[in-house]
Amino acid sequence: MLDRDIEKVVVSKDEIEDILLRLSKELTEDYAGKTPIMVGLLKGCIPFMSDLMKKLDFHLEVGYMDVSSYYGGLSGDVDVKIETDLNMSVKDRHVLIAEDIVDSGRTLTAVIRLLKHRGAKDVKVVTLLDKPEGRKVDLKPEYIGVTIPKVFVVGYGLDYDGRYRNLPYVGLLKPEIYS
Ligand code: PRP
Repeated sequence: MLDRDIEKVVVSKDEIEDILLRLSKELTEDYAGKTPIMVGLLKGCIPFMSDLMKKLDFHLEVGYMDVSSYYGGLSGDVDVKIETDLNMSVKDRHVLIAEDIVDSGRTLTAVIRLLKHRGAKDVKVVTLLDKPEGRKVDLKPEYIGVTIPKVFVVGYGLDYDGRYRNLPYVGLLKPEIYS
């Protein structure tokens, strides 16, 4: 039923599976013996983080945050409004943030700054999608599933008006859906 609203598949189920295998292999090598906290940024992270963590062969703990970024007060810096905070300490811990997409990079910049301020040993990012053409700040995720052009995509965690997150692939919506 949801397929009918999709103009074009951008990252297919098979491609997502390949990405998950590649990233999980890399992460399993890099985090061997480290027991990081994998922090998911709600809500978009859920399908990706859930599928990825099942392929990670090292000890980890899991936490979630729900944040929205905005330009803060006089400084004009990017800041985050924390809707739901992590319920665990990151002090002296390795942190791996899981994201569905990095676009402007504002959300992550602010979250990384916050977690480092709280004493995280290091903070790295794994994202399914990277949209570097949208970048407004200097940020490069350490682990990238696939780079996409500056197009509006939905599915596999990404929403339009709260919907389509449950699509099992990433696609372009038909223009008539949002016009
Ligand atoms: C999306 C996405 C990232 C952020 C990326 O979240 O999940 O967190 O935007 O954009 P940026 O790089 O320009 O900051 P959103 O705020 O839409 O919330 P959601 O995950 O609940 O959909």
